[in-house]
Amino acid sequence: MPHPIKKIVCIGAGYVGGPTMAVFADRCPDIQVTVVDMNAARIAAWNSNSLPVYEPGLAEIVQRTRGRNLHFIGQAEGAKAAAEADAVFISVNTPTKTHGEGAGRASDLSYVESCARFIAQHAQGHTIVIEKSTMPVRAADTIKKILATGNSGTKFDVLSNPEFLAEGTAIRDLEKPDRVLIGGESTEAVRALADVYAHWVPRAAIITTGLWSAELSKLAANAFLAQRVSSINAISSICEVTEADVDEVAQVVGADSRVGPKFLKASIGFGGSCFKKDVYSLVYLCEHYRLPEAAAYWEQVLKMNEWQKQRITYKVIEQAKSGNGTVAVLGLAFKKNTNDFRESPAIDTCNQMLQAGLKLKLYDAKVYFAEFSKVLLPSANGSYTQAMSAVEAMQGVSAVFILTEWDEFKTIDWKAVAKVTQPKAGIFDGRAIIDVAAAKAAGFSVYSVGKAR
Ligand code: NAD
Ligand code: UGA
Repeated sequence: MPHPIKKIVCIGAGYVGGPTMAVFADRCPDIQVTVVDMNAARIAAWNSNSLPVYEPGLAEIVQRTRGRNLHFIGQAEGAKAAAEADAVFISVNTPTKTHGEGAGRASDLSYVESCARFIAQHAQGHTIVIEKSTMPVRAADTIKKILATGNSGTKFDVLSNPEFLAEGTAIRDLEKPDRVLIGGESTEAVRALADVYAHWVPRAAIITTGLWSAELSKLAANAFLAQRVSSINAISSICEVTEADVDEVAQVVGADSRVGPKFLKASIGFGGSCFKKDVYSLVYLCEHYRLPEAAAYWEQVLKMNEWQKQRITYKVIEQAKSGNGTVAVLGLAFKKNTNDFRESPAIDTCNQMLQAGLKLKLYDAKVYFAEFSKVLLPSANGSYTQAMSAVEAMQGVSAVFILTEWDEFKTIDWKAVAKVTQPKAGIFDGRAIIDVAAAKAAGFSVYSVGKAR
């Protein structure tokens, strides 16, 4: 029988584990929260003044909780912490498999499995094991099997508690979630975890379901969100050729309360570590359960996303080649207010431009350039440089390509910029954030996604 949760261990100190546990510690001063990671450098960063994750509001929370009831420790010390824990969260990466059955589609559960083995080996007494990572439906079966290999005195309950935070707004999402989802077979274990969240989340916002519904709901939620972006991006392409304006169309469609206004911003395409992998995971599950039409339906969301990136980048290449072949790339992160560039549209678009022989000047105030350069074509080394400001990036270029909707790009003084770019330079706004009239008045040709030129 689970008792109240007083000691939490979280395996995985990444974009989810770190911020989530910081908020747990902040909102539950009576609970000791310990975050374990096998990446020693990451743990050292969490214990320093230079946190490995940038999120508005995160540093302040870590500042007041670290050393009090929030602790970041390495794998070696993790065994003792796991032995003492009432609940262990698994918050490790679940990337797309790169080899073996389902490669390129199915989720790689090897990190999760190694956590389950670690818990089986070290946990003592009754321990609630909580899937925080995004898992394919029925992954808990695999976890339960591994836990059953642990010592016979230990009793486990497995819960699914997927995380819905979005990067850049992680702290707000954690502090005021639309909903918290807890799926499980043991009512007592579900209640014990719900009691933790109830420290700050209204009970009405805590949804409890069966284990399999919780696992599948997370994949479904991300698939629906990705589908909305692909839907508005499909509309953006027809807007451009018909002189309809995608922002106006989105406003009208979103004003219907059955649809709602959020997540209808046309863009260069969605990025981030999860949408692509989670939609692929869903596609794989549909194929696995012999539902090819359902698989094809969801795969089209991803195909649309690829096409959007490529078709806009072709326009930039064409423009840059008519000039001096140099492009300013503004924004490398997959969205604003994060330093994360995993699956960022900037990766594919930059590589497409480099492959076309262009020279790039890259600028993003938050993304670590040394890290980003590792995802660019090795053969293009020397064809791109880092700029320290947007204006520096735009010096002498024949095209400006906006890839992230950072606020600083919304207020660029295009008249001033026109003095430093090549004459007849073109602006390509992949986020539809700039004042098109002002940029045109400054003499630029302007492409803004979802708007006629
Ligand atoms: P991440 O890569 O930032 O962090 C994962 C961490 O787990 C890494 O630091 C890694 O070193 C550590 N790790 C892996 N295996 C380990 C092991 N056996 N022992 C100890 N440490 C181990 O990943 P993330 O972005 O935090 O995502 C984690 C999970 O949460 C994924 O399943 C993801 O789909 C899901 N998710 C992510 C987000 C997001 O915004 N990033 C939001 C909701 C859900
Ligand atoms: C997304 C979901 O929003 C979270 O609920 C979920 O927990 C998370 O995935 C996850 O499982 O990892 P995240 O990827 O951090 O969060 O960021 P989003 O705000 O969803 O943006 C994803 C991508 O879609 C970004 O590239 C963004 O620029 C793009 N987007 C979003 C658009 O192009 N248009 C929109 O209207 C909204």
